[in-house]
Amino acid sequence: MSFTSFKTKIEEGDFVMAYLSRTHIKPIIVKKGEKLNTRFGTFPHDSMIGLPYGSQLMTPKGRGFIYLLHPTPELWTMSLPHRTQIVYTPDSSYIVQRMGVIPGSRVIEAGTGSGSFTHAFVRTIAPTGKLFTYEFHKERYEQAVSEFKEHKLQEYLICTNRDVCADGFDIDGTKIDAEAVFLDLPSPWEAIPHLKSVITHETEARICCFSPCVEQVLKTVTALQENGWTKIEMTEVSSLLWESRKVMIRELDDAIKRLKDVKKRQLEGIEYMKQMAVKYGSNKQAKVHKPRSKNRDRGFNPFGKGFHIIEGDENYKWFDVSKEQKEIKTHTSYLTFAIHVPQLVVNDENIEKQETDTEKADKL
Ligand SMILES: C[S@@+](CC[C@H](N)C(=O)[O-])C[C@H]1O[C@@H](n2cnc3c(N)ncnc32)[C@H](O)[C@@H]1O
Repeated sequence: MSFTSFKTKIEEGDFVMAYLSRTHIKPIIVKKGEKLNTRFGTFPHDSMIGLPYGSQLMTPKGRGFIYLLHPTPELWTMSLPHRTQIVYTPDSSYIVQRMGVIPGSRVIEAGTGSGSFTHAFVRTIAPTGKLFTYEFHKERYEQAVSEFKEHKLQEYLICTNRDVCADGFDIDGTKIDAEAVFLDLPSPWEAIPHLKSVITHETEARICCFSPCVEQVLKTVTALQENGWTKIEMTEVSSLLWESRKVMIRELDDAIKRLKDVKKRQLEGIEYMKQMAVKYGSNKQAKVHKPRSKNRDRGFNPFGKGFHIIEGDENYKWFDVSKEQKEIKTHTSYLTFAIHVPQLVVNDENIEKQETDTEKADKL
């Protein structure tokens, strides 16, 4: 098991994503004799060993399944312990492709934070690339390093405990030569001047700065311009999840019958109150309520209002609709992209060669 390669069967020591529901994924390390306790019941780890990844495990009470999934950066982003705000998949996937990060890329990331984006970067650059990730908060840095070790990412990254705004990105004895830089910092404009010595000057380098406020974007754009970055563009990713759902069909005739039933019950209630007033005197009227039968009769209700109805219940008519999911976990920020083009060194030899080439072309 690893975030950078796939295997088919679960073995002892594997890191498995126990998928309980869309909003509840529990990462576990499978160990003989241990148990996974969930609100659906207890699952012995022994029952997981040898199963193919993706298997369903029936809950002990037989009311549904949990799924044993192979770890991916996307699942990790949905389940990781938050130490900071994190970058979610709609942003990270866009940034990775927009900066042209591929297997073999050399990338700088600051700050590391909760390591959400770190996992996505590593999966993309492996097996031959390198990620240089920086975090100035000591505890967060230590937690990140131990997580990266546990997830077997350390061979693809160098994590440094450093304030990049004050001390830059250089690492003694290491040629960084980054083709892509991602800054998720409160003040990226303070880090940008330090990038010159660590980005590649062989090819184009690309940068993305992730900032929630437009005031931060303005300062970042100024710093990028002052430090030789061009083609500056700001983008915002807004993502909507669409779901297919069932909506109950309500016939007009049923609605009319229901309204008539409500009216009939109102009139019966008024009549009952009047009788009580005659029996006990008008001052008691307000306190006397019609007793409810044990099997609460809710009257004619073709739509099940007041009852708990499971979506798709065969006793009702439904039609399929698509709905957008209201709450989506994305920390929306402005993404400021730019490129750094290496300066062309023009020497006499180049000019001479160019002239000869032009002369040759003219003669043809
Ligand atoms: C929003 S979090 C990054 C989250 C990360 N991108 C993720 O997906 O999990 C920002 C991190 O930058 C760190 N940070 C802030 N200023 C820094 C600096 N000057 N140098 C290094 N790290 C810094 C903070 O401690 C924090 O952990």
